[in-house]
Amino acid sequence: MGILISGPSGIGKSALVQAVAAENKSHIFLSVNKPNEILKTQSEIQRVFEDARKKSPSILLIEDIEDWCPKRSDVINIQHIQLASTLMFEINQIHLDDLAIIIIATTRDANDLDQTLRRPSYFDFEIKLDIPTVVQKTDTLKKILLVFHHTLTHAEMFELAKLTYGYTGSTLKRLVDKVSLEKLRSSADASVAVELHFEDLKCIMKDIVPEVMDGLNYNIPEVHWTDIAGYDNVKKKLIHCIIWPLKYPDRFKHLGVSLSKGILLYGPSGCGKSMLVEAIATASKYNFMYVTSNDVSIKYVGKSEEAIKNLFLAAKRAAPCIIFFDKIESLGSSRGGLGTGGRVENRVLGQLLKAIEEVRLEMVFVIGATTLPHLVDEALLRPGRFDLKNHVALPDSETRRQMFKICLKKMQITDDVVDEELIRRTEGYSGADVNTITNLM
Ligand SMILES: Nc1ncnc2c1ncn2[C@@H]1O[C@H](COP(=O)(O)OP(=O)(O)OP(=O)(O)O)[C@@H](O)[C@H]1O
Ligand SMILES: [Mg+2]
Repeated sequence: MGILISGPSGIGKSALVQAVAAENKSHIFLSVNKPNEILKTQSEIQRVFEDARKKSPSILLIEDIEDWCPKRSDVINIQHIQLASTLMFEINQIHLDDLAIIIIATTRDANDLDQTLRRPSYFDFEIKLDIPTVVQKTDTLKKILLVFHHTLTHAEMFELAKLTYGYTGSTLKRLVDKVSLEKLRSSADASVAVELHFEDLKCIMKDIVPEVMDGLNYNIPEVHWTDIAGYDNVKKKLIHCIIWPLKYPDRFKHLGVSLSKGILLYGPSGCGKSMLVEAIATASKYNFMYVTSNDVSIKYVGKSEEAIKNLFLAAKRAAPCIIFFDKIESLGSSRGGLGTGGRVENRVLGQLLKAIEEVRLEMVFVIGATTLPHLVDEALLRPGRFDLKNHVALPDSETRRQMFKICLKKMQITDDVVDEELIRRTEGYSGADVNTITNLM
């Protein structure tokens, strides 16, 4: 029999298989890890299967099978093809012989596999594990905490489960371990067991990045609304669109309000677009991805679309999540305009549009920023995509006054230099210009 288990890293695939193996003591447990130094030849793979046959009833675990048998287009060399076909042949053979051998393979994403493997002649069924729900996380947390001294109530565990966006069981374990280690380090008497409290866990949470964000998370500078002068209407819109749906879910359901998921900030350079995005990320505490066109413009045809697809898939799993496309014009340029609308860009744009549509019902928020809105493809601006457009214009005199005050306060300089003359003379200056002037003061 064959079972394929898919799910993101850290979700507990291996833990599940080990639990199955522990339950079935009559079965011998064998495992095939990633292609490595030891298992690098076809004969070695054959030997493991031979072993499983001899020792049957047995359970044979193949971890991360996509590393052995990737999609045909991703195969690197001839040796890899040979290994893949040997492994597939062996799995198929066990299936045909109908021996008392259970083959369990794990994969991060079944779509990354050689798709032949998904035919019933290899695995009888597929199990998909996904990011746990709040109730499941509460349960997992309770189990993890069993071996620790703690004061957490069920309600507090539920609260933590709610706030740990995109966490899996293994992320929760890392969180608890880190808190316990830090408390141990700071405790005066190492012989006394430390006690974990709700506040400890809540405080360390921001340092633990969920596995689904691996390689995608971006350390946002902490920016508070009060650090940003002016643009109150933009701040308000960001809060309504991004924070309210989670804070007041009933209101949204009740009113049948469709959520606006695409927000475009446009305006001259240095006026605070990035700062506004950093502030909404800080205030919401959601997972945050920062994407520049470099991250997705991979030269090889097909790879960019895949990068976007994977990005949104990860965002969905890490939800609530904000994806910030900085300088979005370089990605969604007017098709055919300014010589930037080549075939590859068109496909990338197509994929982006599709991805944005697909997350309409998810807590995934897409923000784009640009200084060149006329270059952003029209298709990106249609309702359902970046339908909320906000102009972050050059600051008016009142905003400039506030900007000077904020900048001077940061430098601990009194703000009596900020007079009418200075405000008048800096007409047309951006926030970044104001910042430069205060640095010279
Ligand atoms: N509204 C503002 N209030 C306070 N400071 C500001 C404001 N806008 C800009 N600044 C200052 O200017 C700097 C640059 O701003 P920011 O990076 O957010 O601009 P941007 O609009 O994203 O520019 P670009 O289009 O070039 O990316 C900030 O780090 C800050 O010091
Ligand atoms: Mg910016």
